[in-house]
Amino acid sequence: MTEKPLLQVNNLKTHFHTERGRITAVNGVTFSMQKGEIIGIVGESGCGKSVMSQSIVRLLDHSDAISYDGEVLFDNKDLLQLPYAKLRQIRGNDISIIFQDPLTSLNPVYTVGEQIAEALRLHQKLSRKAAMVKAVDMLRLTGIPSPERRVHDYPHELSGGMQQRAMIAIALACEPRLLIADEPTTALDVTIQAQILDLIAELNRKLGMGVLFITHDLGVVAEICSGVKVMYLGQIVEEMSTERLFTAPRHPYTQGLIRSIPRMDGNRGEKLHVIEGTVPSLTDVPPGCRFATRCPYADELCRTEEPPMERVQDDHGVKCWHHERIFEEGVDAHDGTGQRADS
Ligand SMILES: Nc1ncnc2c1ncn2[C@@H]1O[C@H](COP(=O)(O)OP(=O)(O)O)[C@@H](O)[C@H]1O
Ligand SMILES: [Mg+2]
Repeated sequence: MTEKPLLQVNNLKTHFHTERGRITAVNGVTFSMQKGEIIGIVGESGCGKSVMSQSIVRLLDHSDAISYDGEVLFDNKDLLQLPYAKLRQIRGNDISIIFQDPLTSLNPVYTVGEQIAEALRLHQKLSRKAAMVKAVDMLRLTGIPSPERRVHDYPHELSGGMQQRAMIAIALACEPRLLIADEPTTALDVTIQAQILDLIAELNRKLGMGVLFITHDLGVVAEICSGVKVMYLGQIVEEMSTERLFTAPRHPYTQGLIRSIPRMDGNRGEKLHVIEGTVPSLTDVPPGCRFATRCPYADELCRTEEPPMERVQDDHGVKCWHHERIFEEGVDAHDGTGQRADS
């Protein structure tokens, strides 16, 4: 690919300086995204997905106990080095962020309509009147009932689910080039979730908006993401196209995540596979491969030396010493066809 990436993250590290010493919640994350791509970030709770995505736009900086290493390049600028005034211009203009908790980004002193209209006026150069009409449309698109009335509500007058949708409407109204969505639909019911995913996918198609979609739901990944990064304990351990995530996963952690998906066609009594053990504490990171403490394949090498991110294809990298063997065994053992998904 010769086109310049929309976002390039180089060896990003995020450190928290706590009373118990330095904790590195994101440890050497590298990836790039092209315009128009929808990339999923997956991994269990506590793996650093939120810290990583918030580090990209430095939303954690209000705490003075934080520091970064590496680079986050957007428009030839390193966001980690940018003065705050410049950073603020980029946030909510070129980059929008939506979270599970809507109150962190809604402004309590303006109505929902005013907040959406403001974004529209700024970015689409609409008149005040036209912007209000479009604001109602945006609210309707996110599934808010009686949007003509709701547009005049203040955030506190809305229920949690409605606040969530209003926040999404505001974030999308400015037609960002990059949307960072951190489990934005987790608290919403499936119908609304589907509507919002459709809306994101539509803006992605229409505007070429790039999306970094953080989720623990592999179903959502299958639906809208073109590629995926699997995170474990602050690092990307595998990255590939969504198709290969489901057909040719190599890292035992990725394979475990996939086996944990509830199967619609499975026996009701069938026990859901869950990955044994828990994510180790950041104050006690295992030497060698970070997953070794939970990995059925781990040997002495894994427990002492950190594996490199190895390329198995241009768009597929895996950080595991034994991925070749595991891949062959895994496919035989789990779909029974003996067919390599690769071939
Ligand atoms: N302000 C903070 N100070 C210290 N540790 C933190 C802070 N915020 C997050 N962490 C730690 O960083 C790790 C990653 O958290 P997070 O990014 O929220 O995980 P995820 O989003 O994948 O569930 C966790 O171990 C969490 O406890
Ligand atoms: Mg999170």
